[in-house]
Amino acid sequence: MILDGQRTFLWSGEMHPFRVPSPDLWRDVLEKMKAIGFNTVSFYFDWGFHSPAPGVYDFTGVRDMDRLLTIADQVGLYVIARPGPYINAETDGGGFPAWLATQAGRARSDAPDYLAATDEWQSAIDAIIARHQFTDGTGSVVLYQIENELAATGTSQRNYLQHLYDKARADGIRVPIFHNDKGRNGYWVPPSSTVPGTLPGPVDLYAFDGYPGGTCHTDGSVGSPNAAPDWGIQGAGGAKGGATASDKTPGFTAEFGGGWFDYWGSVGTYPCTAIRQGPGYERVFYGTNIANRLTVQNFYMVSGGTSWGWLPAPVVYTSYDYGAAIDEGRQLRPKAQTLKTLGYFVQSVAPLTRVDKGDAVPTSSAATKIEHTVNAETGTNFYFAVHNPSSATTDDSFTFPVTTADGTYTVPLRLNGQDAKTLVANYDLEGNHLVYSTSEIMTHLRGVALLHGRDGEAGETVLRYPSEPRVQVLEGAAEAAYDAATGDLRLTYSHHGIIRVRVTAPDRPSLTLLIADEDAAATFWRVDDMLVRGPQLVRSAHVHNGRLALTGDTKASSPLEVWAPARTLTWNGKPVATRPDNGALLAVRNLPGPRDIALPDLTAWRYAAESPEAKPGFDDAAWRTADLTATNSTTKPPAGQVVLTADDYGFHHGDIWYRGHFDGPAPASVTLDWGGGGAGLAQAWLDGVHLGQRTIPSGVASPPTRNNDTFPISSDLQTDGPHVLSIMVRNNSHNEDGGVNDAHKEGRGVIGATFDGVVPSGVTWRIQGTAGVDPVRGPLNNGGLYGERNGWSLPGFKDRSWSPVSQPFAAAAPGTSWYRTSFNLRIPADVDASLGLTIGDPAVPRSDRHYRVLIFVNGWNMGQYIADVGPQHTFALPTGVLDPHGRNTIALAVTGDGSSGLEDVRLTTLGVARR
Ligand code: GAL
Repeated sequence: MILDGQRTFLWSGEMHPFRVPSPDLWRDVLEKMKAIGFNTVSFYFDWGFHSPAPGVYDFTGVRDMDRLLTIADQVGLYVIARPGPYINAETDGGGFPAWLATQAGRARSDAPDYLAATDEWQSAIDAIIARHQFTDGTGSVVLYQIENELAATGTSQRNYLQHLYDKARADGIRVPIFHNDKGRNGYWVPPSSTVPGTLPGPVDLYAFDGYPGGTCHTDGSVGSPNAAPDWGIQGAGGAKGGATASDKTPGFTAEFGGGWFDYWGSVGTYPCTAIRQGPGYERVFYGTNIANRLTVQNFYMVSGGTSWGWLPAPVVYTSYDYGAAIDEGRQLRPKAQTLKTLGYFVQSVAPLTRVDKGDAVPTSSAATKIEHTVNAETGTNFYFAVHNPSSATTDDSFTFPVTTADGTYTVPLRLNGQDAKTLVANYDLEGNHLVYSTSEIMTHLRGVALLHGRDGEAGETVLRYPSEPRVQVLEGAAEAAYDAATGDLRLTYSHHGIIRVRVTAPDRPSLTLLIADEDAAATFWRVDDMLVRGPQLVRSAHVHNGRLALTGDTKASSPLEVWAPARTLTWNGKPVATRPDNGALLAVRNLPGPRDIALPDLTAWRYAAESPEAKPGFDDAAWRTADLTATNSTTKPPAGQVVLTADDYGFHHGDIWYRGHFDGPAPASVTLDWGGGGAGLAQAWLDGVHLGQRTIPSGVASPPTRNNDTFPISSDLQTDGPHVLSIMVRNNSHNEDGGVNDAHKEGRGVIGATFDGVVPSGVTWRIQGTAGVDPVRGPLNNGGLYGERNGWSLPGFKDRSWSPVSQPFAAAAPGTSWYRTSFNLRIPADVDASLGLTIGDPAVPRSDRHYRVLIFVNGWNMGQYIADVGPQHTFALPTGVLDPHGRNTIALAVTGDGSSGLEDVRLTTLGVARR
């Protein structure tokens, strides 16, 4: 299907199963992706999410991948499986399990210990993927990616890639295997490529990625667009030209920007990114890709989701919304509607998959250009019209010649703002001959063609008939003129709302043209061989005995009209009264929207302070004594000090405590060299007295992850011993290894500790991290806070002995304090409410308070709020983690310097739909 004469355009969106922590939500997001025109979904599988320790792979997560692939198949999406072992994806260690941070051999090489580890992972994940292969008729997995962006190209990497390829094949993977070339280097192309300057690898297809759309400015403003690159047949070509690096395989972009991630300390750019990489961007850039014959396109991300727990890499905070088409709260952004027009188009107009570059087509304006492609078999011509340069946003009206077997036409067109259009000429439109149209084709089926254009812009559609057809304008305004000499029927109109025209000619199937402006186009849904108009989402459509069963969502009272081989219909299981209307079925009454929902106020809380580890008398006898003298971490202890880095002692995620016991006079200062990831935190106490807290500087896209900080000690504490120095380090995760330099092995926790600038002798260090791995929520859910180690984050914890408190909250002592509350949710059964938790004032990215919060919802660590870093204030609480019809418990672990109280905490609504 893919290697031999590909005829299906693979239009794919990326979705991370590990960022959408509930099978119900997988189905929801996949149905939405399908509804907005995707036929393929791309999944990264995150090794670190699945494996808490070497040899351990039986987490809920791994078994659920089977379910995930079943759901994708049921929904009707092909799957691109991307199990790494290295992925990036802004996850802890770039997808590596944290236990790899202590391995001797270099990662992403042919080091035997590393390959033994990847074998384990591939055995576990391949066993699942292999059961779902399209080639076996047992699923919908069509492609398999090895590694990701392996930009080192030495013998060791070649051996490594070969090892991954051979292992996948040995594990029964039969679908084509590819690699994703970071940028366009011509690395790891199939042996069939004859392009000079490329590097062959053990792959069947060549794929590359690119994020050319640009990001928002750091102040959160949208800025001006970039120009779209030609990474296929319209471009310069060659090894570094993109798809042209492999001349015998389909044009394949394994990741093409669908948004971008955001960093600790930014102003909060996701809403802006959704505009910067919004409708205009999609039309210009994805349209350019189509004109470049990239017939396998995957957009990263289409649904970003949430980096819950300790998943986020240092470069990103909890929200991985990404400014994607489906937002973190599972709502469709306006850009999803534009994707829908593109996705329906590439799946409806089959000649698109087999085009060649056409003759140059001039335009009447130097401010515009045409990229022209032709399908040699059908003679269908495609004119991709865009500004010249494509970054321009002017309002240009121009003409260009369309020359096909039908003759030569001078065609008028307008491009206003960041925009582009793909026009089709010489095409069989439902058994009627389309000469050309300046409206774009969205889809067509069973005698109905849905065209679209920008509101208020003129359009013309020319069809050819041997004799004058009957033309009925059923709705809106359109002029028809028939030219008996050529046989051309010319329809002219201005796009606005919906214009309906029926053309009936002898010896031709009757054709109904639905010509929509963009807002009206957004109300149409194509499901299989049916077209529906009205609701805010249509998920499925099945006809049985003349009755059409539709499922979908309304967000407001909506009309319902369907074009389907049915006489009656149901909506979400309930009969809908209809009447026939010009070949469609029209609901007599609107579908109802959702009922209002009421959310409880979070007024009553229970409070308890913790951080007993800071107190001198705390019993740490059961803690691990730091006794290692050698480490494989890339950060070594200073001479004379034992290894203190946390991974070496098996403490991989979240908070780590140290207690250093020593005798003799206390120093005047303690200096820590510490690793904390993005916006990590260190707190220190001497003999129970708080010395302060330090945060690793943030506010940049690639933040420092390690810091040197001095904690002065006041003279009254500089007494003779015994002393206890208590240190807590928040590990905001391991670095990614994009540079193939073992960056994930940078130490976390304390790397070096000096007293008055000297490594002290005679300090006994004890270390404590997480108490173990949550058997349900996996290795990334918990760190080593006292409360976590003692079940305070869990819904069943008995907090009756805690102090009752209410908002506004008073300041707590330095260290960590917990706030717990429970509440009932009574969301009606037919309402899908996407809820969030908001802390503080979302109007400002950060406050002047020095604390951070871990948000546990029914035991799930749903993210981290950092008041003085920001920017995130609202945290998605996904259904599945949150019970919309029952009792829920929220536990907040608040860690700060004691100078101020926790800000206002409340439930918020991210989106409501009736289902
Ligand atoms: C790509 C990488 C992805 C992700 C993306 C940025 O280069 O392949 O895994 O990290 O960048 O979001």
